[in-house]
Amino acid sequence: TDLDSFIRALPKAELHLHIEGSLEPELMFALAERNGVAIPYASVEDVRAAYAFGNLQDFLDIYYAGADVLRTQRDFHDLAAAYFDRAAADGVVHAELMFDPQTHTDRGIPFATVIEGLLSAMADAQARHGISSALILSFLRHLSEEAAFETLAAAEPWLDQIAAVGLDSSETGHPPEKFARVFAAARAMGLRLTAHAGEEGPPAYVYQALDLLQVDRIDHGNRALEDDALVDRLAREGMTLTVCPLSNLKLCVVDDLVNHPIDRMLDRGLRATINSDDPAYFGGYIADNYRAAAVARGLTRAQLGQLARNSFTGSFLPPDAIAAHL
Ligand code: HPA
Ligand code: ZN
Repeated sequence: TDLDSFIRALPKAELHLHIEGSLEPELMFALAERNGVAIPYASVEDVRAAYAFGNLQDFLDIYYAGADVLRTQRDFHDLAAAYFDRAAADGVVHAELMFDPQTHTDRGIPFATVIEGLLSAMADAQARHGISSALILSFLRHLSEEAAFETLAAAEPWLDQIAAVGLDSSETGHPPEKFARVFAAARAMGLRLTAHAGEEGPPAYVYQALDLLQVDRIDHGNRALEDDALVDRLAREGMTLTVCPLSNLKLCVVDDLVNHPIDRMLDRGLRATINSDDPAYFGGYIADNYRAAAVARGLTRAQLGQLARNSFTGSFLPPDAIAAHL
């Protein structure tokens, strides 16, 4: 079979996906119209042309502005439903969705509106596509520890429907240590833990995520490769890295996919996975990410299979469900 069919047919889990980052320009326009919200773009082409980023912050500014069209429970439902349709077409059988409640609560959208819209789409995805899914509540690291605690408190009524907490947004200058106490509180509430680390931040931030946050996964982790002792430790501990090739390219974490470290990660014994991060902004969903990495790095089918298996091993599914997928 050809590469594309092979990749789509591989059962895989998506572990690093910001649901707000799956807002396609077409849906952005439709929601702007439906909600009477003004957006600073004349056309869908105009939006896509704005998606040229020099770094993480360039992207975040546009990503938070785009999220302003999301107002109602139905908007959040439609957003996630569109993602699940794409994921199903790509052979995703399990998806762990990050969402950024503060992006919405800070503009007056109730936490309940956001999460109920997402949960209804997740139930539909199970029924319509057979896709299981989980939610990861992500704290915005450019905001305060106190704001993160308030967000965790707002989530309490839905605690049994949230798998984990995460940490995203502007990495540099906002080290994991800033959130050590709120992560400890989340762990005490029975939640799993993940954090973006080593995307733009130094290896020290990856050490902090491990030692001070005690994370179960690292999102991105690219810059861990600068520190041999850290690489050895991540391999020894079986730590999952949720790597996002097209994101790395668009945010200039790598200069060219030809130099992407995905296969070096596997060769070093790291439990790397491939994910889409913010597919509407970075030019592709999960199969596009597998394909781009495979072509650029000449990945073998054995390596692609390993990456897909790692996505289940590294998931927040219960052990029996993980075993059933391997
Ligand atoms: N990094 C940090 N924050 C984010 C990202 C990312 O890749 N995507 C959405 N929020
Ligand atoms: Zn991310």
